[in-house]
Amino acid sequence: MCGIVGCLGREDAQEVIVKGLKTLEYRGYDSAGVAIHNGEFINRSRARGKLVNLEKKLNEEPIRGNLGIGHTRWATHGPATEKNAHPHMIGGVSVVHNGIIENYAELRDELIAGGSEIYSDTDTELIAHLINIKVKQTNDLLTAVKEVIPRLQGAYAVLVLSERHPDEMVAFTNGPPLLVGFAEKSFIVASDMLAIVPYTKNIAYLSENEVVHIQKDSYKFYSNDLKPIDKKIEEISWSAEQVEKSGYPYYMLKEIFEQPRSMAKSLEPYINIETQSIEMPALESYVSDIKSLEQIYIVSCGTSFYSGMVGEYLLEKMSGVSCKVDIASEFRYRSPKLVKNSLLIVISQSGETADTLAALRLAKEQGVRTLSLCNVQHSSMDRESDIQLYMNAGVEIGVASTKAFICSLSILNLLAGYIAKVNGNMKPEEERALVKSLLATPSHMESVLTYDKFFAEAAERLKDYKGFLYLGRGVNFPIALEGALKLKELAYMHAEGYAAGEMKHGPLALIDEQMAVVMIAPKDDLYDKAISNLETAKARGAQVISIGTVNDERLKNLSINFLSIPEVPWNINPFLAVIPLQLLSLHVASALGHDVDQPRNLAKSVTVE
Ligand code: AGP
Repeated sequence: MCGIVGCLGREDAQEVIVKGLKTLEYRGYDSAGVAIHNGEFINRSRARGKLVNLEKKLNEEPIRGNLGIGHTRWATHGPATEKNAHPHMIGGVSVVHNGIIENYAELRDELIAGGSEIYSDTDTELIAHLINIKVKQTNDLLTAVKEVIPRLQGAYAVLVLSERHPDEMVAFTNGPPLLVGFAEKSFIVASDMLAIVPYTKNIAYLSENEVVHIQKDSYKFYSNDLKPIDKKIEEISWSAEQVEKSGYPYYMLKEIFEQPRSMAKSLEPYINIETQSIEMPALESYVSDIKSLEQIYIVSCGTSFYSGMVGEYLLEKMSGVSCKVDIASEFRYRSPKLVKNSLLIVISQSGETADTLAALRLAKEQGVRTLSLCNVQHSSMDRESDIQLYMNAGVEIGVASTKAFICSLSILNLLAGYIAKVNGNMKPEEERALVKSLLATPSHMESVLTYDKFFAEAAERLKDYKGFLYLGRGVNFPIALEGALKLKELAYMHAEGYAAGEMKHGPLALIDEQMAVVMIAPKDDLYDKAISNLETAKARGAQVISIGTVNDERLKNLSINFLSIPEVPWNINPFLAVIPLQLLSLHVASALGHDVDQPRNLAKSVTVE
């Protein structure tokens, strides 16, 4: 998943593009490049690795012009080298691309057979070849694009410049996000609003199979066959300062500390404070469907999958409706036969994850009601689902998701309560108790954030373990999985999340002094079983870091480090237990000298399969 930015107008294009790429670098950082039209020629500069390497080149040799395109790459075809860096340039046509061209090999063979010389290992270069051939034939950039689009199969968002057309830029997409910003001095096109926000809040969203043709002082939207279409210009809510680090060393640490406020904000739209009740207007017209619900499916990826696993416990325990959670990249390939009276929920911070989006589309094909829980409004899942709920976590830059996870848990608690209420499985006093427990959680989270100091100091010791085993039961089992994922994606260390009751079926053999065991065992209905699982591991020399309810001497005596959390209802423990695990991973990664906000090989949103 890559970051792309284009600019046309009266601003210095290099400055707008590089500034925009900085806000998008979380989308991919294998290489970066810009191509700028100076009115006569297109000049290009590219560098492998992080954006800072491109900035060094541009500081030495700036490129002037008011029209340009830029790119930060997350490699899909071809290694992260300069020759594979975008923008690609063939003849006088320059292209940047986010996505995958699936018929890449066929197009490559056809171009070579036609005498084209291929310079890189990328699918993107082929788009430049195809458009260049058509520009030469038609001498019209928009027509050239229209004739090339039918040749492309796969997911793509593309920006194109042509040396022959010094006042034009064309952008088109068939899936990955592309937004057009209408700023005072320039048009700005980007794969994420963060690149546009510093210049304007007036944005239009390019939908699937749409094209925008931008000229010096005009623009026009089309369908792929160049039928003109009208697009609504929206005013977005996120401000530029939300993007800044506010003094924290990492976006991720800022976002961990924002979690109490983000959670409180996530609850607001769905709680009536006066009556302490749950209100979900988006679901009101589906009440009769909810009453006859036979099955709920939850489908998502990564951290969002783990919030879905928590959601499975919440929905089954509270609403009484059968719930099944699936990994999105597996879901559609097992040819699921979805129950007619069912609801398929997708959870996605970005709203763009390809596998999760595909699951949503499969459900719609089978006539099943769909609900999206996203953080980014107007994202693909947000636009394509029947029912929309929002995390309202605010912008999340750190590739490792934190506040979006917490806000997903908030909304899943409320959704479970709402469905339970509609089904007559939750009395008003139980609803009030659930709302009260959620409203009290942000202040409990503040108390747990104090472990930041502990992990800043303990990280030096923790980084030397050969591996980590995270254990939990019931609703804390997904938290064990999430804790392990955080350590993997930030510290690049081996870590596994496991159902504590499963230890005796094999993983117990892993236990020795070099294997750290992180046990999540707050007081709940599975506490005693979790403790006996831990005692089994302890008896074999496990080095235990535990997270448990305050004043739990029994757990404390089994642990090298006991991190207490306040005594709260079972459904609130996940909000509090996950915070020390986020802090542990961040500080160990920092102690190892890793880039916390942009871990290697990863990207914030995976918009390709
Ligand atoms: C989590 O820290 C990772 N960034 C990753 O697992 C992420 O949760 C996953 O790619 C799903 O992204 P989404 O929520 O935007 O769909």
